[in-house]
Amino acid sequence: MAVERSLILFKPDAVQRKLCGELLSRIERKGLKVVGLKLLQVTPELSKQHYAEHVTKKFYPLLEDFITSGPVVAVAVEGIEAVKVMRAMMGSTNGRDSAPGTIRGDFGCSRQMNLIHGSDSPEAAQRELGIYFKPEELISWATVLEDHITAADER
Ligand code: RTP
Ligand code: MG
Repeated sequence: MAVERSLILFKPDAVQRKLCGELLSRIERKGLKVVGLKLLQVTPELSKQHYAEHVTKKFYPLLEDFITSGPVVAVAVEGIEAVKVMRAMMGSTNGRDSAPGTIRGDFGCSRQMNLIHGSDSPEAAQRELGIYFKPEELISWATVLEDHITAADER
């Protein structure tokens, strides 16, 4: 199975609400690996690059206002099928529809202020990681716990 990387953002609402530790803890406890991590301010230009598919949509101006309203934490997450695993952990877009147990289901009640971004495909992940991280900011490292996290025939 493919080891993937996904671009995760803890959005400004998560930073403001001091939920970054909780969200990072969930990623770590799941068995995923953090290979890049930084706090940054998203600019309008960066927002348009990231959310290129949404720029022409009616909700985009509000989305840009929100994502540029304060710092975000960018996390590069690695693991087997990491893109799919993270999307499942996040829950659906609208916090009011997200299942309890998911990040959006447990911590939010909003469609826009939904705490976390996660790449929606391996191709999107590659593009988005390139936007938020320089190659040298992504660190490949081996965890000594690997034998306890995945079986040999899954790697
Ligand atoms: P994300 O890209 O942030 O991980 O979220 P997503 O895939 O679940 O949702 P997506 O459809 O890609 O939308 C991107 C973000 O735009 C805001 N949004 N607002 N007002 C609206 O109708 C609306 N729809 C989406 C949300 O913050 C959503 O996460
Ligand atoms: Mg999306």
